Amino acid sequence: MPAVVETPRSTVTPIPPNGQQPASPAPAGPVSEAAVQAFAERMLRSFNEAAVTLMTSIGHRTGLFDVLAQRPAATSREIAEAAGLNERYVREWLGAMTTGGIVELDPATHRYWLPPERAACLTRAASPNNLASVAQWFSVLGRVEDQVVAAFKHGRGVPYAAYERFHEVMAEESGQTVVAALDQHIIPLVPGLAQRLEQGIDVVDVGCGQGRALVHLAERFPRSRFTGVDISAEAIAAGAATSAERGLGNVAFRVLDAAAWEAREAFDLVLAFDAIHDQSAPAAVLRNIRQALRPGGVFLMQDIAAASCHHGNLDHPVGPFIYTISCMHCMSVSLAGGGPGLGAAWGKELALEMLAEAGFARVSVEQLPHDVLNYYYVAWPEDNRLQGAASEART
Ligand SMILES: C[S@@+](CC[C@H](N)C(=O)[O-])C[C@H]1O[C@@H](n2cnc3c(N)ncnc32)[C@H](O)[C@@H]1O
Repeated sequence: MPAVVETPRSTVTPIPPNGQQPASPAPAGPVSEAAVQAFAERMLRSFNEAAVTLMTSIGHRTGLFDVLAQRPAATSREIAEAAGLNERYVREWLGAMTTGGIVELDPATHRYWLPPERAACLTRAASPNNLASVAQWFSVLGRVEDQVVAAFKHGRGVPYAAYERFHEVMAEESGQTVVAALDQHIIPLVPGLAQRLEQGIDVVDVGCGQGRALVHLAERFPRSRFTGVDISAEAIAAGAATSAERGLGNVAFRVLDAAAWEAREAFDLVLAFDAIHDQSAPAAVLRNIRQALRPGGVFLMQDIAAASCHHGNLDHPVGPFIYTISCMHCMSVSLAGGGPGLGAAWGKELALEMLAEAGFARVSVEQLPHDVLNYYYVAWPEDNRLQGAASEART
């Protein structure tokens, strides 16, 4: 796994252009018809992919991909019956899926099937690789388009409460990107952390949402004590309900604004999964996290993998996705709370600068092979590399 150790005092310097020749800002002569045609075709491809994405979200929510994956080629009526859905709707959805290259069709028998390599990316059984779950973001965010359009004029953002299904979809994403990777990939990012968790430490997850990561950790490490804090009462209620269902006695959930948090030297490990960049007061939250750590404690922050400037992200594999989610949600919710609107692509340079300002002396930045979307920042209040080297030399 590639690891980059950063100096804590990096500044936000522009990243050199990526070598691509940018399109000329002003046309030098008459526009070629072929160039216009090529661009129009590119836009049509975008519309088709957007349409497939919307229908992919519906295929996930209705369970149609799961039904298709579990059966041989079937007619629209058979598929609708198996899914408990209306045949006319299922047939129209199949029209989008077949023309979109997701579902296959035998014209002679009018039977449809989902090839296994596509089922491996689109079904609940394929989780944590279920991309159909990710497609839900576009419909969640599409619902607030009017408010975002208005915010382009008034600039005051869109409040969290405007986003229906946000916590539900976020919890699904957490299940795939965080929970599925915790044991094998994320916990091992901090040397010795698994052993400390086994022995028993105090852990808090800031902006825990519905708390899936915390519940997983509480089950795996019964000697440690876990607290989930989130500003959303709805998300905290869901986390508390899950923990009660599983009969966990070592996890508590609290509604709390992390910007007004007064914990001092109370935790050995602070976690924040995708929860810093959309804060209304991110600098205060980072300071509070620093103060909440005991000596020897560590802050593990998962946040979006990006550079802090547009030109540093031109080759990003999911650049448009990140900026769109940010504009439609992350930046907007921060602005709605009177915050700076860092945005999802606040980037590594700014993140490191803010961590240093909050009092973290050493930060390493890791990226996991399964996760192009995130960096994992491991931040220590003390720079104990010399101590570590000395103890390594003794063993
Ligand atoms: C993008 S979600 C991530 C949720 C969760 N960590 C996960 O990975 O599923 C960000 C979370 O931060 C919470 N949040 C935002 N501002 C907060 C604040 N000031 N204090 C505590 N939680 C906050 C939101 O309610 C939301 O649940």
